[in-house]
Amino acid sequence: MKPVKVGILGLGTVGGGTVNVLKRNAAEIARRAGREIIVTRASSRDLGKPRICSTEGIAVTADPYDVINDPEIDIVLELIGGAGPVKDMVLAAIANGKHVVTANKSLIALHGNEIFAKASEKGVIVAFEAAVAGGIPIIKAIREGLSGNQIQWLAGIINGTGNFILTEMREKGRDFADVLAEAQALGYAEADPTFDVEGIDAAHKLTILASIAFGIPLQFEKVYTEGITKITRLDVDYAEKLGYRIKHLGIARKTGEGIELRVHPTLIPERRLIANVNGVMNAVLVKGDAVGPTLYYGAGAGADPTASAVVADVVDVTRALTSDPENRVPHLAFQPEAIKDIPILAPDRFKSAYYLRLNAEDKPGVLADVTKILADHRISIEAIIQKEPPANEKAVPIILLTQVTLEKEMNDAIAKIEALPTVTGQVCRIRLETLG
Ligand code: NDP
Ligand code: HSE
Repeated sequence: MKPVKVGILGLGTVGGGTVNVLKRNAAEIARRAGREIIVTRASSRDLGKPRICSTEGIAVTADPYDVINDPEIDIVLELIGGAGPVKDMVLAAIANGKHVVTANKSLIALHGNEIFAKASEKGVIVAFEAAVAGGIPIIKAIREGLSGNQIQWLAGIINGTGNFILTEMREKGRDFADVLAEAQALGYAEADPTFDVEGIDAAHKLTILASIAFGIPLQFEKVYTEGITKITRLDVDYAEKLGYRIKHLGIARKTGEGIELRVHPTLIPERRLIANVNGVMNAVLVKGDAVGPTLYYGAGAGADPTASAVVADVVDVTRALTSDPENRVPHLAFQPEAIKDIPILAPDRFKSAYYLRLNAEDKPGVLADVTKILADHRISIEAIIQKEPPANEKAVPIILLTQVTLEKEMNDAIAKIEALPTVTGQVCRIRLETLG
């Protein structure tokens, strides 16, 4: 059979890694796909830049449209990133009848509904395994492996850069900016690293996971998003003393009232496997009604791990080239006409337990005032620690763990606690999930 011809847009970390894996494992990949897969064309901005891969046998151009419009190309790999000019490139490839493989989560989270509709019209596949959790085949696991289940919730460490930063800060006491620079040098970070540290990248990925888990449209704008920049050493230490780790999680949970979509730092009991996922590693817990809890673990970023996911998609597309489009796995797991607009809950309707840290004057009655406010809002206290005041300071840190409560009750209670004349500054609040 004729080889399948692949054209790559972008020869950076992921594009370069993909060329390397396709070349290194060519024979094994052909045995699986049933056909040889070769890269014949590629595009990058700067043709003189050193690459992590050899471009021997690949015609490299500065114009992505040379690849997109090449009639010989069967599959276009979009490995540039961003949701700007790349959207038009992907739509042009689809219009040309080409299958597309992408690692671009922002593109799928923001424009996936439109892109998949166009792809279905043209009978082509848009595959995106590498867009979530790097090398972990989480899309395939949820979309195919768990298709007999009603997914109840999922929670994941889905940004490698953020987890790398939190791990290095906790284990080695390293400075935030210094670790971020290392993550950039290692090729883990996004072109704009604020996407990693402010939780935007994780929110893109959660949007995709929630859509394939619950059969809902992609709706990035409804994800509640907090990053890791406000996590302090103090809270990491207090959490550890209480038996918890702070991880940056993406959580999607189906409730009777709607779906919670949230990305934020979270206290997790340290006995949970996911609390011990460190460095650039990612992990996603998925709870199905039939299978129970399942856990997927692996490298969340980097050239070869991400290439592993890109190449798996290329093999899938190759196998499906001769199949009838109606009988392929749907882009978003559910048949397009069966996608349902289940309501996404506003943040004040989330339910969670909480870690609270506040500074209060060291005098009788202060703690009673705080606990009364919580009780008035029907918030039960799980644990409480009052520390000695630091030398020459009158205010004492008070740390509280609460049981699960409605976020609105917690917001109102925090506002009242912050208004107490005996409490100084803002209350630090971090959500807590037992993931049981
Ligand atoms: P890089 O910055 O390393 O590579 C991007 C490539 O695209 C470069 O070759 C660059 O050319 C080219 N490029 C950039 N802008 C344009 C443009 N306007 N027109 C044509 N070519 C362009 O990015 P990554 O490889 O890290 O990321 C690629 C995609 O993969 C992104 O969507 C990212 O989110 C995703 N991803 C990345 C992972 C990682 O670990 N890095 C993991 C999972 C997904 P030049 O080299 O000449 O500048
Ligand atoms: N910047 C992303 C991360 C790349 O660090 O997880 C993988 O999607």
